[in-house]
Amino acid sequence: MTATIINGKEIASQKKVEIAIEVQKLKELGITPGLAVILVGDNHASRTYVTNKEKTCRDLGMYSVLIELPEETSQEDLLAKIEELNGDPAIHGILVQLPLPKHISESKVIESISPLKDVDGFHPINIGRMMTGQDSFLPCTPFGIMVLLEATEISVAGKHVVVVGRSNIVGKPVGQLFLNQHATVTYCHSRTKDLQFHTSQADIIVAAVGIANFIKADHVKEGAVVIDVGINRNEAGKLCGDVAFDEVSKKAGYITPVPKGVGPMTITMLMYNTLKSAKNTLRF
Ligand code: GUN
Repeated sequence: MTATIINGKEIASQKKVEIAIEVQKLKELGITPGLAVILVGDNHASRTYVTNKEKTCRDLGMYSVLIELPEETSQEDLLAKIEELNGDPAIHGILVQLPLPKHISESKVIESISPLKDVDGFHPINIGRMMTGQDSFLPCTPFGIMVLLEATEISVAGKHVVVVGRSNIVGKPVGQLFLNQHATVTYCHSRTKDLQFHTSQADIIVAAVGIANFIKADHVKEGAVVIDVGINRNEAGKLCGDVAFDEVSKKAGYITPVPKGVGPMTITMLMYNTLKSAKNTLRF
């Protein structure tokens, strides 16, 4: 079998057109969705991500502000900045780029963001709401994966989904979103015994381990859907996912490439969440 490639870039572009139209409508009502992104320190990958987020905001007609703070910024100063943004009516979404420098507690920072402006969907209130099936901001990468599947008309209910990786940003929440849509979910991670035993039974595999080419053809059932969340560089410096694309794409039914798979969806769902937050202000 040769897999159908799920074109995340194209699906993201379509979603962005829809978002831009909604942004325009909101602007006519006098509200411009605004996103504040905070970058602490100078992690190269983080800088690339936040630059992309800013550019996408502007492309969609949203207001965007990038706050760059030095590596040695104290936790107290960062929390004060977040408090200021929590009270700023021009800002509907606040994103603090992770990872943060070691001397700053990520959980303290995440919990200081108003749940109403937590467009990353990382605040325990939003996570709790997601777990109990209530309306909330959904974490952008997991949300993007669900939208990719929906756009590709891949049904989820009753499917066996194996999530490889258990990060707070991707692995844990994506499993929950699949469960919310009536899938049977197995979580695998670095201590899982006999990974292949689990993955080879999966109808849908989500690879989110952060190791280049980790999932091989032998891990995958014929015709399975393979979602690759990895963004790694191989020995030659080439961008590659967690899935050995060349061999797995000969066996899977559907596969997301890297780049142009899950990545473009993450930023798109951040824009969606910022728009949603701005729309929510109409209700108050
Ligand atoms: N670092 C890597 N991914 C993300 C993300 O989705 N949000 C934030 N805030 N930081 C990240």
